[in-house]
Amino acid sequence: MTIHLPPMTAVRLAAPPAALRPLRADDASALHAAAQDPLIARYTSVPWPFTRERAEELIAAAHADWAAGTAARFAITLDDALVGTASLLHIYGETSDAEIGYWLGTAGRGRGIATAATRALVEWAFGTLGFAQLHLLVDWDNAASIAVAHAAGFTDAGTRWWEHPTDPTKSEEIPLLVQDAAAWRSRVS
Ligand SMILES: CC(C)(COP(=O)(O)OP(=O)(O)OC[C@H]1O[C@@H](n2cnc3c(N)ncnc32)[C@H](O)[C@@H]1OP(=O)(O)O)[C@@H](O)C(=O)NCCC(=O)NCCS
Repeated sequence: MTIHLPPMTAVRLAAPPAALRPLRADDASALHAAAQDPLIARYTSVPWPFTRERAEELIAAAHADWAAGTAARFAITLDDALVGTASLLHIYGETSDAEIGYWLGTAGRGRGIATAATRALVEWAFGTLGFAQLHLLVDWDNAASIAVAHAAGFTDAGTRWWEHPTDPTKSEEIPLLVQDAAAWRSRVS
């Protein structure tokens, strides 16, 4: 099945008290500032040190990947300020599956924003785009992320090899959490 992403400018997702919109070129400064926490690089594929140049590269990649239909990366905003990102990091059209990823800068944490953003992304992926399945890969000791994933409807499904995109020493077998469209429908209806 082919997944068709709508034009970037047409997408805005409500995730009260936050919102999701595709990353924009003018997000570079805010993205750079929000991701200055080594925990983000430890638990995600965001590179470290996260320089301003790397923020610009990430935004450029977000635009190229959205155009190619291989990823959909969103800024999480609170009162119009960028506080983190939530994304369909890898879209696997042939299996109608996508890997979800998210992070918040330290200022945005502890208020349910990651959970609200992930729920909104899941609803968009299943309800609007028609994905059959979504999955997450989470480090063994990342209790906060596992709590977010469970709260957003994902369930534990064993482990899977995670290939870090830039640092092979971080590649490892880690917990896999999955959610399928049928389970999501029965949960929200
Ligand atoms: C994971 C992350 C996005 C969670 O953000 P957050 O603001 O704490 O998320 P929420 O406020 O939505 O909290 C969700 C749940 O996690 C729980 N939680 C938060 N920190 C926790 C911790 N250290 N240990 C256990 N549970 C924790 C909260 O209590 C909440 O559970 P509840 O709804 O049952 O009360 C944030 O910690 C982060 O950006 N970490 C670094 C990057 C990262 O790990 N990304 C995910 C990669 S898979």
